[in-house]
Amino acid sequence: MTKPNVHAVHRDWDRDFPIIVRTEGIYVFDDHGRRYIDGSGGSSVVTSIGHGVEEVPRAMYEQAQKFSFYPAHAFTNQPFLDLSDLIVSLAPGEMRNNSRVWITCTGTDATDDAVRLARQYWVEAGQPSKYQVISRWQAFHGNNIAVAGFSGLAARRRIFQPMYVDSPHIPPAFCYRCYFEKSYPECGLLCARALDTAIRQQGPENVAAFIAEPVVGAALGGVPAPDGYFQMIREICDRNDVLFISDEVMTGWGRTGKMWGIEHWGVTPDIIATAKGMTAGYTPLSAIIARDSIWAVLEENRSPFKAGHTLNANAVSCAGAIVVINYMLSHDLAANSTARGQQALEGLRKTMAAHPSIGDVRGRGLMFGFEFVRDRATKEPYPPTLKVSSLLEKAALRHGLVTYPCTGAVDGGPGDMVLMAPPLTITAQEMDDLLTILDLAIGEVEETVS
Ligand SMILES: Cc1ncc(COP(=O)(O)O)c(C=O)c1O
Repeated sequence: MTKPNVHAVHRDWDRDFPIIVRTEGIYVFDDHGRRYIDGSGGSSVVTSIGHGVEEVPRAMYEQAQKFSFYPAHAFTNQPFLDLSDLIVSLAPGEMRNNSRVWITCTGTDATDDAVRLARQYWVEAGQPSKYQVISRWQAFHGNNIAVAGFSGLAARRRIFQPMYVDSPHIPPAFCYRCYFEKSYPECGLLCARALDTAIRQQGPENVAAFIAEPVVGAALGGVPAPDGYFQMIREICDRNDVLFISDEVMTGWGRTGKMWGIEHWGVTPDIIATAKGMTAGYTPLSAIIARDSIWAVLEENRSPFKAGHTLNANAVSCAGAIVVINYMLSHDLAANSTARGQQALEGLRKTMAAHPSIGDVRGRGLMFGFEFVRDRATKEPYPPTLKVSSLLEKAALRHGLVTYPCTGAVDGGPGDMVLMAPPLTITAQEMDDLLTILDLAIGEVEETVS
């Protein structure tokens, strides 16, 4: 009999949280012996190489036997050096073998450090007025006060709003609910051109960076930007001397079918923030990768990067990350992500044909999702009081599938979505099982809310 919980605070007051006792491949098992497909890849989009790959804890154990912690102001560690070399050899476009890596702990640390670096770079480069970070509505970049300030989740922002630094947000690249009520490609990518406008409004001399997710995760349930979007963003950033930060916390490490999400647009960012799939959740670790030309300015000024946490570049975590990345490469998991992602979208489109409550199906590789609507023609969302994405999550869980419920499809307020991101190791049969349960769960939700 499991001891009742008295002291541990969980994400919700109104549900039971079964205890996980074992994980393997795409499955997690609870203390009642129930098996679930980890369809959200952890919470969420973390589990890249799947659960229970023994080489990872083995490498971490071997490192821990030597040491895990040491006075990091005076020494370094070999796994950190090796991991940095590996990451730079895999960086996209002109960043490949032409960048340097800063290793920290969480995705939020990475996005925070990415904007810190952008700001410090401009100060050190003799343009100290450049400080603004422009971001997008319906975006999520993490959860400390600074980062949540440039994230764009309207509902979540409300309570902490007075504590945020004021920063401009532009509309997302979200064709299904286009802010400009246009259709792609006739729209001429007004959503990208909005960055030009925002930079002019702030004055380019005040803008340090623009940050965006190539495929929007928790805030939009797997929405990739349309073709041409990031090419235009890159051109606008270049023309205005603004650094482009690609937030690859979710989209890195093969998740969308390429090593980096931004590679779908053939664009090289200036800074990448990444985490999650880099260690597949076996241990916390994150990184920023920035072009040599950025670090060079700090180096020439003999000015250390003004960031850092006590547990940065933890040797045990770095040893684990190296194994995870090599596993991902040797099993060509990015290719599996493309193939299984295609299967997922085809399967979901069939589900959509049978279920009028599904208004849109979207995604790239194994980062995909769908949106509920009360009326497909008008795209009217369900009332938030019905908590439709939460109903779906609970129904799927009863059938042994973990999904990630999201809200805020309509301007960050109402609008239920579901984000899916199973391990990149998922087989065709396992994907069929996942899709069967989703179809069943969607049917049950429709019955409940009709
Ligand atoms: C795009 C993106 N950036 C940053 C973060 C923050 O990462 P973490 O939760 O590890 O702090 C997340 C988390 O979901 C994310 O999806």
